[in-house]
Amino acid sequence: MHEFLTGIFFWFAITVCLVGMLVRFVLYFRGLSWQLDRVAYKAHPKAGMKGAFRSIYKWLIPYGTYGWRTQPFMAAAFFGFHIGAVVVPLFLSAHNIFLENKVGFSLFTLNAGVADFLTWLAVVCAFFLILRRIVLPEVRILTTLYDYFILFIALAPFLTGLTARYHVGDYSFWLNLHIFCGELLLIAIPFTKMSHVFLFFASRAQLGMDFGIKRGGMKGTKMAW
Ligand code: HEM
Ligand code: HEM
Repeated sequence: MHEFLTGIFFWFAITVCLVGMLVRFVLYFRGLSWQLDRVAYKAHPKAGMKGAFRSIYKWLIPYGTYGWRTQPFMAAAFFGFHIGAVVVPLFLSAHNIFLENKVGFSLFTLNAGVADFLTWLAVVCAFFLILRRIVLPEVRILTTLYDYFILFIALAPFLTGLTARYHVGDYSFWLNLHIFCGELLLIAIPFTKMSHVFLFFASRAQLGMDFGIKRGGMKGTKMAW
């Protein structure tokens, strides 16, 4: 089982994730229509790019946008969860040892204490993200089983990573389950809302261009509509 999960299934998962996201990126930008969106994307590349970078950058900063500031507590939970969700998978020492053996390169690695802290932070904050969907009526009314499914597949690698990390019970069982859950998440990325890991940048860029060009970004210039 371990050989299968770290061999052919690992390559399958990583290929589906990367190729799938490349396709979705191309489809996203090919799907834009300046006539339907009423945004002159190509006519004003400079204002467009400025708006795109501004939007991505502002949304990545905690409390950088009105959107984040209107819900300060939930914004903290989102950032707490996402710091762990992005940093731990990429920079965990165990992951990079695995990567080094598999593909011959590795990234900067976190020390064990920081990795544990960020993992626990992600798990605790995820608890509040789940609570948000149950407790707040304005979120509950929009929530379907699919949203819980997404939270479940996003959280499973963290929970199983921790049980493996602390050697709870049978280590090889938890490690294999962890690797399987991580790979399921990678496979789910191109096909579900988890595509936001990459498409966040595409949709923020597009909306940023809209604001940079049309909605006030070029105020005071003689822009031809
Ligand atoms: C795709 C293949 C993956 C492999 C082969 C893998 C492998 C491992 C290994 C060997 C450990 C160390 C267990 C120990 O301490 O003994 C670990 C821990 C962990 N992994 Fe993964 N992993 C994978 C995917 C993921 C993904 C996608 C995520 C998150 C989205 C993730 C999150 C974690 C976390 C949170 C820990 C525990 C961190 C801590 O030490 O506190 N892993 N993983
Ligand atoms: C660069 C990477 C990422 C960015 C920029 C990003 C950004 C976002 C944003 C803007 C939201 C919506 C917040 C809102 O509703 O107000 C969100 C939700 C979410 N993200 Fe990410 N994300 C990233 C990576 C990840 C990763 C790696 C995971 C999981 C391992 C993840 C799991 C989730 C989940 C589960 C939700 C939905 C929570 C809910 O049920 O409301 N994200 N993300």
